[in-house]
Amino acid sequence: MRIVYVIGTRPNFVKTAPVISALQKRLPDGRHTIVHTGQHYDRLMSEVFLAELGVPAPTHMLEVGSGSHAEQTARTMERLEPVLIEERPDLVMVPGDVNSTLAAALTAVKMNIPVAHIESGLRSFDRTMPEEINRIVTDEFAEHLFLHSDEAIENLRAEGIAEERMHFVGNTMIDTLVALEDRFRAAGAATKAGVEPGAYMLVTLHRPALVDGPLLPETVKQLAALAAEMPVIFPVHPRTRKMMEEVEADHPGLLLSEPLGYIDFLSLLADSAAVLTDSGGIQEETTYLGIPCFTLRDNTERPVTVRAGTNTLLGLDPSAIAGIPSALAGHTGERPEPPPLWDGRAAERIADVVAGLSST
Ligand code: UD1
Repeated sequence: MRIVYVIGTRPNFVKTAPVISALQKRLPDGRHTIVHTGQHYDRLMSEVFLAELGVPAPTHMLEVGSGSHAEQTARTMERLEPVLIEERPDLVMVPGDVNSTLAAALTAVKMNIPVAHIESGLRSFDRTMPEEINRIVTDEFAEHLFLHSDEAIENLRAEGIAEERMHFVGNTMIDTLVALEDRFRAAGAATKAGVEPGAYMLVTLHRPALVDGPLLPETVKQLAALAAEMPVIFPVHPRTRKMMEEVEADHPGLLLSEPLGYIDFLSLLADSAAVLTDSGGIQEETTYLGIPCFTLRDNTERPVTVRAGTNTLLGLDPSAIAGIPSALAGHTGERPEPPPLWDGRAAERIADVVAGLSST
């Protein structure tokens, strides 16, 4: 069996690494080809992550880089098509909901190559989010849908997707976290950053709705006020960094940094008092680790994390940051049961399904 894995962004690498590894073991005679679209290209966003995750070197680098949605999607499709002609895969595997995901799924399906989607069925029901469009289109055309939470089943049924395409396998991002746990528990990133474990907030912000407009300066003002009470560590995503150039961000206790490697990031996350974010993956990692998470968005495609009790939706409203210290005071610190099948073995279940395809 020939499988092409198309990855392009930081969260893609985390979600796909355990799947590549499980399938390489399960199908040792298969051809496993990694295509890196280059949507994320900075060393700290790509190379460092791939190395830490043990992802083999990609065979094809498409180097699509940044651009508008149309440019990025079109460039990926144009550059992927000849690769798929050359590789003639039996299956194209795509993770998540980024532009690389959508572009790869569309390219493959138009060549009549079956597509498998890792992390299928998430819905925010907010079509102003580019990721929501990417999820809907990818799920419509993928033949094999790998679901990470039970709520995805209802979402897909509501779109008329047949049950036999759905496989509830669990969360491959949590597979990676479980596999790295010994390393990140020993990393001591908080101490290296000069803060006391358990006594700081970790912040990540990168969604266009928050960082591309007037909400960013207001958010930084609120973070500065929070930092007067406890240190705030804020590794800044390149999109946010560009927008921060105009924002006054020099405040005592507000510790800005470059994007971090995944081991150091998970170490900081696991030792934090709480996290403030607009990321999807971080809502999941905090649920698994039992860390309070405050999400600066109006909605989430991961309501399972809210039901688990770790995630609180603050709304797309920076003034809500001021309420975090009092919300934390009432927090029990208990680690909830993780959602079903968030157990470190999702990729093995995906490998079971794919191995079944290869034998039919
Ligand atoms: C993308 C995904 C988003 C995901 C996020 C994870 C889409 C529509 N968005 O958002 O769903 O949550 O990745 O990080 O696919 N840039 C660099 N260096 C890089 C990459 C980006 O400087 O290595 C800068 C560029 O200025 C670029 C901007 O960041 O224009 C945005 O990058 P892009 O890949 O378009 O979207 P993200 O915001 O990273």
